[in-house]
Amino acid sequence: MNLNAAILDYCAQHSTPEPLILQELSRTTHLRVVQPRMLSEWSQGLLLQLLSQMIQPRYVLEIGTFTGYSAICLAQGLPANGMLYTYDVDDEALAIAASFFARCNRSSQIAAHCQSARQGAPTLGLTFDLVFMDGDKREYMQDYEMSLSLLRSGGFLLADNVLWDGKITEQAPANDKHTLTLQAFNDFVKNDARVEKIILPLRDGLTIVRKK
Ligand SMILES: C[S@@+](CC[C@H](N)C(=O)[O-])C[C@H]1O[C@@H](n2cnc3c(N)ncnc32)[C@H](O)[C@@H]1O
Repeated sequence: MNLNAAILDYCAQHSTPEPLILQELSRTTHLRVVQPRMLSEWSQGLLLQLLSQMIQPRYVLEIGTFTGYSAICLAQGLPANGMLYTYDVDDEALAIAASFFARCNRSSQIAAHCQSARQGAPTLGLTFDLVFMDGDKREYMQDYEMSLSLLRSGGFLLADNVLWDGKITEQAPANDKHTLTLQAFNDFVKNDARVEKIILPLRDGLTIVRKK
């Protein structure tokens, strides 16, 4: 089915509306950040929220906080004793995220770290129930192996941007490291017997992986 603008608008009109705090976060990001297109938008944020509410994860790991949109969505499924750990290397984006985390309904359950996730997450000594991979696309293979090693059996990993604006099916030039890595990543996950997986063609493509 060709999802034209009218169909997408119909879907949005018949889904839970975007909360005010996320509308404001989105506005602030567009005003203050150089690359606002890295931000999640509500159709994906709502899916992340609903998946988290289904899983009810005790521990969530997020790679790539940016200004905090997806973290606030994922935190909605945490039980009362749950925690979300989110990592980013961009301190300016994290400062915006921190100001919105402080005001959101899950403020005490989100721990944001200014550090590469691959350096920080393994030192927490935790096993995660849910991982959201949304960091540097050129590092997806390394992030995936690290995440899988920290994920419990039966846990879920979500990887964003796996269709990369449609470039994923095209022949990529040798210097297009983002597309080439994402193609290699998708092929690797397809052949990875440790997991079950599906690519959802939502927005820029979201892979859902379940560790066996
Ligand atoms: C697409 S943005 C994340 C968007 C955010 N998850 C959302 O949906 O609103 C990617 C972020 O990953 C961060 N990043 C890059 N390398 C990273 C690393 N090694 N560890 C953690 N974050 C990283 C970038 O600084 C950038 O802010």
